Amino acid sequence: MPLMNLSGSTWRLVFGVFLVCAVILELEAQGQRTTPRKTPKQNKAKLVRSTGEGPQAVTAKPKLKAPAAQAPLTQVLNKGKFKKIGETVSVRSGDTLELRCRGKPVQWSVPPYLEEDDDGRLKIVQHERYGTLTLVNTTGADTGEYACYQMYCEDTDCRREHNKAVKVFVFFPDPRELFLPSSNYYEVIQLRTNWPTLLPCQVTSPEAKVTLHREFPPVEVAVDGTEISFDVKKGFTIHRPRPHHAGALYCVASLGNLRQSSTKYMLIYVHYPMAPPAPVIQLSSNSVVVGNNLRVSCTVMGERDVVIDVTWEYPGQQIGRPLYTLDSISPVSGGPAQQQFQSVLLVDEVRDVDSGTYTCTAQNLQGVKSVSTTVKVAPKAKAKKP
Ligand SMILES: *[C@@H]1O[C@H](CO)[C@@H](O)[C@H](O)[C@H]1NC(C)=O
Repeated sequence: MPLMNLSGSTWRLVFGVFLVCAVILELEAQGQRTTPRKTPKQNKAKLVRSTGEGPQAVTAKPKLKAPAAQAPLTQVLNKGKFKKIGETVSVRSGDTLELRCRGKPVQWSVPPYLEEDDDGRLKIVQHERYGTLTLVNTTGADTGEYACYQMYCEDTDCRREHNKAVKVFVFFPDPRELFLPSSNYYEVIQLRTNWPTLLPCQVTSPEAKVTLHREFPPVEVAVDGTEISFDVKKGFTIHRPRPHHAGALYCVASLGNLRQSSTKYMLIYVHYPMAPPAPVIQLSSNSVVVGNNLRVSCTVMGERDVVIDVTWEYPGQQIGRPLYTLDSISPVSGGPAQQQFQSVLLVDEVRDVDSGTYTCTAQNLQGVKSVSTTVKVAPKAKAKKP
């Protein structure tokens, strides 16, 4: 009989069987309970997995109840056997994921894509002593980090306890899609000097072999684990980007007979400062006599090729006093990658209105910093003293 003709109750039966393929993880945040309850044998059970298909697995479910423990995540195999797991787990795509987390109440976090795109497959329920997260009709795209946070509540005011989070990375191996879907044909990524850059070609299966490739010239990029490394939960990281890393790159995943390419990453190199600028302001003289000239200089050290923008604020600004600046860039001896940027504000024939605060503001891609100094203008007549 074709599935389409099944009656409502038969559907439920069919799905009842599907649902048994659920993976049930039991999570417990550290320190939640001060007096550990004893459950001699199942003591270590936190991750409970029932891989069984068919009706017999139904009876396996009640076993999953509440093995309280302070142990790391463990996996329960079919016949009540426990297996310690790391921080990742694989759930066949199409199966149901069920996570259980002790705590009252708990809050969940799911991969961003699931958060944005709630199509009714995700269900979160808070029970008296634990919360559950159930995700049905899973696909490879659901691959990602799932976490449970203990909530700290005062009356109705609750907040997350970040140090009391339990995280698990769940793979949903998809026999047709090795990479998590991407909505873009290509992605532009900025490579910033010495800043780790991630090429997020994530795979749905931890078994997939992933390599990195350059489009022109078409070569495989060496992944040595130091300059470039791969993490099956994240993708490739270029740890200290240099100009030669720029270009069009993509990942290739292979598993069995399947070989697929990821979305393309257009890497654009940006000379990026290590830190916000640290300008230094200096006056030719703290006290100037009316009619004399004044120079206020603002000096910023920085990496070569990194753009620094300097702006000035000064007392005569409000009345439109036309001052001018001289900007220069000079190399610094000793540090080949360093340069000095200097902006000099020139005040010709100082007047009373020029007394006050002079501020130099320097900005680069990392941030902005201002420095100020005060100028006193002395009247001309009193210049001479006996
Ligand atoms: C799961 O998939 C089945 C079959 O395609 C569908 O009937 C059901 O509505 C889906 N459930 C959810 C919550 O999307």
